[in-house]
Parts: sequence; structure tokens; C-alpha cells
Amino acid sequence: MKFLSLYLFLSTLLLGNIADIPTDEAIKVKGKFSKNKKCVRCHLDIYKEFKHSKHRNSNILNNPAHKAMWENNPLSKEQKYVCAKCHAPAAENIDELINGTKQIESEDKSIDDGISCALCHRISDIHATDKGDKYVVSDTKRVYYGTRESKQRSDYHKIKTDNPIYKNGDVCLTCHTQHKKQKLLIDKQDSSKYCVFSKVDANVTKVSQNTKEENCITCHMPQVSGSFTDRFNSKTHAYHGFTALSKKMKNAEKYIDISLEKQDKSFEITIDNKMSHDLILHPTRIFKLKIYLNDKVVKTITFQKESQDKEYKPFSWLKEEIKYKNNILAKSKRTIEVDITLKPEDKVRAVLGYHVFNPKLAEKIGLEDKKSLEYKILINKKF
Ligand code: HEC
Ligand code: HEC
Ligand code: HEC
Ligand code: HEC
Ligand code: HEC
Repeated sequence: MKFLSLYLFLSTLLLGNIADIPTDEAIKVKGKFSKNKKCVRCHLDIYKEFKHSKHRNSNILNNPAHKAMWENNPLSKEQKYVCAKCHAPAAENIDELINGTKQIESEDKSIDDGISCALCHRISDIHATDKGDKYVVSDTKRVYYGTRESKQRSDYHKIKTDNPIYKNGDVCLTCHTQHKKQKLLIDKQDSSKYCVFSKVDANVTKVSQNTKEENCITCHMPQVSGSFTDRFNSKTHAYHGFTALSKKMKNAEKYIDISLEKQDKSFEITIDNKMSHDLILHPTRIFKLKIYLNDKVVKTITFQKESQDKEYKPFSWLKEEIKYKNNILAKSKRTIEVDITLKPEDKVRAVLGYHVFNPKLAEKIGLEDKKSLEYKILINKKF
């Protein structure tokens, strides 16, 4: 009898241990990422940049533009926060937020942390599908991917530097290829299903477009001065404010060239998009090119995201009529002709600027956020 109970006791222990082996389900439900605040004491510069970035302020708790779009999306009536997958990926109860069984609580740090430090640094792989690529998150906590050779071990976490996606930029594609195929943008049964109409150009989604020399990271996370950790000195660190539109890219003319050519009775302004992606990626943006002759505007061209397919329109539930036909595709040029004969003393200026959020669309959804609506100048070129 004694032996039997010992046997039973041991086998429950053993079974208990077997039950500890993570199941597929347990791996799927990640959660429990270290909070951003934990990184402050050893990565202050990076933390400060990140705090005001779009990756931190990415959801209904901290991004007014996102909140307004969400509240106007029919899915919000069912409280199914499908946006969480990309906009609140570190949420502890992400599955319940998505299927609508739990609501978002305003004090939930795991959501307010946005696309958090620990989440992004635990993305181990990219899982490519037709509907868009997905991230695979490693299930080991406090082991972060990086790119630097180790100098001094961190007593808070381990580092792995053998993952190429942190060098070639593929880690970014895991959220930035919202929908690869136009026809998958909108649910056939319910045309209101998606937030984002985002035909990410095939050129972007082709992983090969990200090269070691030039990729999402080299352009959007350039090395800037300041140490990457407070534990020892490095001259520079990768910028974690993520420059683009919300944090203006100061050297954009390196990637978008504007040139002038005189003709007999006219002149031409050419925009050369040298980037590996289209000028406009998200349909909420609006770009304007203003051509000045002696400080007077002689021509304005508006650029918006185009849809190749008339059937699938962004924001269909808003019944918004926007003409989608004027984007400048990756690695391509657009020439604008102005029918004016230039005199030698004439001064021409081309100004390319944008609104992060199209004011017309903002009015429709009741968004008054100044930061999203203001007009910003990206390139101001004098000839
Ligand atoms: C598959 C990933 C994914 C999902 C799901 C997703 N988004 Fe996004 N969203 C993105 C990415 C990536 C960007 C940034 C794109 C850019 O800047 O070009 C973005 C940008 C936005 C923006 C512009 C933000 C700004 O500050 O200008 C809004 C608004 C937005 N999303 C709303 C939503 C809403 C509402 C939902 C859910 C109904 C949602 N998104 C679901 C990936 C996603
Ligand atoms: C106790 C101090 C400390 C804390 C807290 C800390 N780190 Fe670190 N971290 C370091 C040190 C030191 C290094 C450099 C290690 C080396 O050179 O091997 C480092 C390196 C890194 C790297 C690797 C850089 C590279 O390219 O190899 C990443 C990524 C990183 N930390 C992320 C984080 C994140 C995310 C957090 C918060 C969740 C965090 N760290 C919290 C001390 C810390
Ligand atoms: C876990 C998902 C995810 C990953 C991984 C990710 N992003 Fe994002 N990114 C987003 C979302 C969502 C937004 C929009 C947030 C918002 O404004 O609501 C965004 C916004 C941005 C913006 C801001 C655009 C603007 O308004 O100026 C840039 C730039 C950007 N991402 C670049 C990158 C780069 C570079 C990487 C790779 C190092 C990356 N992202 C990885 C989800 C992601
Ligand atoms: C050659 C440099 C370069 C490369 C490579 C590059 N970008 Fe950009 N990106 C820019 C510039 C410049 C802008 C600002 C002008 C614009 O929006 O077109 C920008 C804008 C963006 C925006 C905001 C655009 C919008 O309409 O919302 C996002 C998001 C973004 N990039 C993500 C990425 C991702 C993800 C990758 C990698 C697949 C990438 N970028 C590769 C230069 C680059
Ligand atoms: C959207 C993804 C993303 C987020 C969010 C993010 N990082 Fe990073 N981080 C990267 C990538 C990619 C690199 C590699 C850059 C390189 O090698 O040029 C990097 C590099 C680093 C490095 C090494 C810096 C260097 O110059 O080599 C540290 C340390 C780090 N991150 C810490 C953090 C901390 C702390 C946070 C939050 C405050 C954070 N990261 C948020 C993607 C991210």
C-alpha cells in the first residue's frame, strides 16, 4: 500500500512536469512582456526617443487618430479589437480583446506600452502568408535579439546576436505588410471588416528588397549620437523615435530627389522616388507638391494612395469619396509640366509636404488632433 501511494505521488509529480512542457496553445498566447519602464535604467536615451514614437503611441489608449478611426469602425460596436494584433501586440489578454470577451482598461500598462521594447526584441521570425506577414515571438522571456557584439553582460537579460532579421529589416515586415493582396483587404461578406486598406506595393513585401546595405532599419533607425546603454559608452545608437512622417525625416531628399528641367515654353519638375516603397503607404495620409515661381504658387498637385481595384475602397464604411490615383510607386518617377517660359532671373521652388492625417477624413470621423492634422514640409528645394 505504501509503495502504491508513493508510486501515485511520484507519477503525479512526473505528470505535473510533463504538463509543464508548453503546448502549442501556450506558445501561441505570449503575453507577459517586460514593461518599457524596466529598460529605463540602462537604456535611457533609447527609452526617451521611444516614449514619444508612433510605436509607443500606437493604440486607443494613446493615439487619438487611431482611437477616432477605431470608434468609427463598425467592429467597435462588437468590441472586437482586432487592431490589437499590430497596435497593441504586448497586451496581456490579447486574445480576449480580439474576440470581444474583454474590454480595454485604461490603466492596462501592457496596452499603453504599445509595440513594446520587449515585444519587438523578442520577434524571432517572419511567417509569410498571402494575407500579410506575421510575427513569431520567442517564448523565452528576457532574451532579446540585437546586433552588437557583446561587451559587458546585462544582468537583466540575455542577448542573441545571430538573428539576421534585425540587420536586414525583415523584422519590420511582420506588421508593415498589412495586406499583400488587394482582394484580401476587405471581407467578402462584410465590407467593413478592415481598418486599413493598404496595398503595400509588392516591391516592399518582396523580402529581397531589404538588402543588408539599405533597408527599413538603415533608413528609419539611423545611428545617432549617444550611448546605446548607460552601462558603458558607445558613440552612437540606433534611433528609436522611428523617423518618417510623424517624426519628420530630416534627410528625405536623399531618398526622394526633386529636379527641374527647362524646356522652350515650359518647365518640368520631376520627383524621383528612390525608396523601396511607395511614397504613400497608409491611406490616411495626404501629400502635396507646391511649385512656386518667384514666391507665388503656380501649381499644386495632391498625392493620395491609389487603389488599382475600384471595387475595394478604403474606409468604405465612411462612404468617403476620395480619388485614389496619385501615388508615386517604389523606384519610379513622376514629372509635372508647368506651361510657363522661364526667364533667367526667375526663381523656382518645389515644396513637398504632407498631412499625417487627411483633414477631410478627420472631419468625417471627428478627429481634432493638431499633431496629426498640421501640414509639414518634407522637402523644400530651390532652383
Ligand atoms: C496587420 C497589422 C495591422 C492591423 C491588424 C491594424 N493596423 Fe493600423 N496600422 C498598421 C501599420 C503597420 C500602420 C503604420 C502604417 C504607416 O504608417 O504607413 C498602421 C497605421 C494605422 C493608422 C494611422 C495612424 C496614425 O497615427 O497616423 C490608423 C488610424 C490605423 N492604423 C487604424 C487601425 C485600426 C482602427 C485597426 C483595427 C480596426 C487597425 N489599424 C488594425 C498595422 C495594422
Ligand atoms: C541592468 C541593466 C539593463 C536593463 C534593465 C536592460 N538592459 Fe538591455 N542591455 C544592457 C547592457 C549592459 C547591454 C549591452 C550588453 C552587451 O554588450 O553584451 C544591453 C543590450 C541590450 C540589447 C542588445 C543590443 C545589441 O544590439 O546587441 C537589447 C536589444 C536590449 N539591451 C534591450 C533591452 C530591453 C528591451 C530592456 C527592457 C525590457 C533592457 N534591455 C533592459 C543592460 C540592461
Ligand atoms: C508589432 C508590429 C510592428 C513591428 C514589428 C514594426 N512596426 Fe512600425 N508600426 C506599427 C504600427 C501599428 C504603426 C502605427 C502606429 C500608430 O501610429 O498608430 C507603426 C508605425 C511605424 C512608423 C511611423 C510612420 C509615421 O507615422 O511616421 C514607422 C517609420 C515604422 N513603423 C517603421 C518600422 C520599422 C523600421 C520597423 C522595424 C524595425 C517596424 N516599424 C516594426 C507596427 C509595427
Ligand atoms: C531608402 C530609404 C528607405 C527605405 C529602405 C525604407 N523607407 Fe520607409 N520611408 C522613407 C522615407 C524618406 C519616408 C518618408 C516619405 C514617405 O512617406 O514616403 C518613409 C516613410 C515610411 C512610412 C510612413 C509612410 C506612410 O505613408 O504612412 C512607413 C510606415 C515606412 N516608411 C516603413 C518602412 C518599412 C517597413 C520599410 C522596410 C520594408 C521601409 N520603410 C524602407 C525611406 C525609406
Ligand atoms: C519596432 C521594433 C523595435 C522596438 C519597439 C524597439 N526596438 Fe530596439 N532595436 C530594434 C532594431 C531593429 C534594432 C537594431 C538596429 C541596428 O542594428 O541598427 C534595435 C536596437 C536596439 C539596441 C541596440 C542599439 C544599437 O545601436 O545597436 C538597444 C539597446 C535597443 N534596441 C533597446 C530597445 C529599448 C530599450 C526599446 C524600448 C524603449 C526598444 N529597443 C524598442 C527594434 C526595436
